[in-house]
Amino acid sequence: MTQITEIAPDMYRISTFIPEVNLQFNQFLVRDEQPLLFHTGMKGLFPVVRDAVASLLAPSSIRWIGFSHFEADECGALMEWQTLAPSATAICSLVAKLVSVDDVVACRPAQALADGEQLCTGKYRFRFLQTPHVPHCWEASLLFEETQGTLLCSDLFHQEGDVEPRTRTDVVDRCKRTLVSYQQGPFANYLPYTPYTEQTLQRLAALKPRTLATMHGSTFIGDGAQAFAGLAQVMKEILGGR
Ligand SMILES: [Fe+2]
Ligand SMILES: [Fe+2]
Repeated sequence: MTQITEIAPDMYRISTFIPEVNLQFNQFLVRDEQPLLFHTGMKGLFPVVRDAVASLLAPSSIRWIGFSHFEADECGALMEWQTLAPSATAICSLVAKLVSVDDVVACRPAQALADGEQLCTGKYRFRFLQTPHVPHCWEASLLFEETQGTLLCSDLFHQEGDVEPRTRTDVVDRCKRTLVSYQQGPFANYLPYTPYTEQTLQRLAALKPRTLATMHGSTFIGDGAQAFAGLAQVMKEILGGR
């Protein structure tokens, strides 16, 4: 059930489809001098994510654990990972660290990164982007890998279904269909539309990402700036009009 796909050299998408919620849960593993895992997945997923990581590198060698915001699919298994990997340090925003992470899920203090700060893992260079309320939550942030142009974009471009690992076709329409359907049920207002939403999406578009590594759905490979322009339109239309 868990599928591993290389989305860039030594960057892997680990994906598990959960039919009860018709959703994939993706983690991203970066195989580098200092291995990085972005999203731990929920505690319940830990055994399968650990086994998937073990097929690529020693799980105990994980050095950095990144995530966007404080939710189970983002960092629910942080403690399990830190128990297994003695040097694994969480990286997140200062708000995430102070408000929730250090007290609730971490074995050891997280390392807070400032907006724009760089983290070098060896051959790869990650830029930390503080993005409050994008995709959602006060403490939200994203990571952009600058050498390959890969944006680890968490819940942005969220797509339902057991979709293909990678796609070059437009993901904005799929995301739109998902948001429209969520508005009809218990997941309504999944993403807030705030005074900061548009400018944050514009900032992400200006990075011109070539790969959009989303937590739920296919990784998009193509014109990331154009995809963000489409997403901004969709979010305004569906979430911004009330
Ligand atoms: Fe989320
Ligand atoms: Fe998520």
